[in-house]
Amino acid sequence: MTGFEPATSSSRTRRSTKLSHIPIADKGYPKGIYNQAMLLQGKKGLVLSVTNDRSIGWAIAEAATSHGAVVGIGVQNEKTRERVEPLVEGRSDYRMFQCDFMFDDQVEALVEAVKAEFGSIDFFVHSAAYANKEDLMGQFIDTSEEGFKTALTISAYSLVKLARALAPIMNDDGSIVALSYLGSVRAASNYNVMGVAKAALESEVRYLAADLGGRGIRVNTLSPGPINTVAARGVKGLIEMIDHVHERAPLKRPFGAEEVGGSAVYLLSDLSRGVTGQIIFIDNGYNIAGV
Ligand SMILES: NC(=O)c1ccc[n+]([C@@H]2O[C@H](COP(=O)([O-])OP(=O)(O)OC[C@H]3O[C@@H](n4cnc5c(N)ncnc54)[C@H](O)[C@@H]3O)[C@@H](O)[C@H]2O)c1
Repeated sequence: MTGFEPATSSSRTRRSTKLSHIPIADKGYPKGIYNQAMLLQGKKGLVLSVTNDRSIGWAIAEAATSHGAVVGIGVQNEKTRERVEPLVEGRSDYRMFQCDFMFDDQVEALVEAVKAEFGSIDFFVHSAAYANKEDLMGQFIDTSEEGFKTALTISAYSLVKLARALAPIMNDDGSIVALSYLGSVRAASNYNVMGVAKAALESEVRYLAADLGGRGIRVNTLSPGPINTVAARGVKGLIEMIDHVHERAPLKRPFGAEEVGGSAVYLLSDLSRGVTGQIIFIDNGYNIAGV
């Protein structure tokens, strides 16, 4: 078979029969990749930050621990600590760290605390964003310089800051994942300055992937469709956005934070060892839909 033949049912059968008879070890894949039931067994990492059990970060942490990882959950302040503590209480697969990315001394303290607890880490997930409420409604043209700086500093620059601070305690071949949204490349209603921040974040992911690739560290972006969380409720018209995406997306079943968790496990695991600088959309395919 040339590979250009139309796939008749008999050629499909022939090809799959042949492949299924080649032992995995002979296909050139590193041993162990395809027979791990627990894809993150033995790995330690951070998910920064979580607000409550509806946070995308929480779904990622739950997916990662269910695959054998030990996860350090990040909370921004005392208030969120109080909400998240009951979620991790009594769980040996969780640790908790408090850090507001805007304060350099807190980022330094985070690194020291993580070093003391874990020694080194295999991954971290940047799952945090913020913009002033008045900048997530009306017209983008009205964004103030102050509002622009706030959104970009917290939602985009924090990834660079955390990558620089945490890279020295990351193991080679580790994984960094950031969370973005389609509003980075499309003018989404009310998303405004956050779309600009996400465009910066996605670009940072590519530059960080280039910087850290020499150590085998991958840097990728997950881009979920709209999900009802505390941060997302800051965007005016969220519920209409969710309904619209679910109506128009090619896949007709509901999607939510759990689907993001599943894709995160892939990016944090050795299965994605050849993937860096990429954006994976978890939106039931909405981003490819035409009229
Ligand atoms: N919910 C959605 O529809 C959606 C879609 C695409 C992408 N995202 C992205 O997913 C990520 C997680 O958001 P979420 O929807 O789970 O909401 P969330 O409110 O549960 O999480 C946002 C987190 O950002 C943290 N944060 C904000 N400023 C911080 C700071 N200075 N220091 C430390 N932490 C800070 C908050 O404490 C909070 O835990 C964000 O990057 C968001 O933009 C969300």
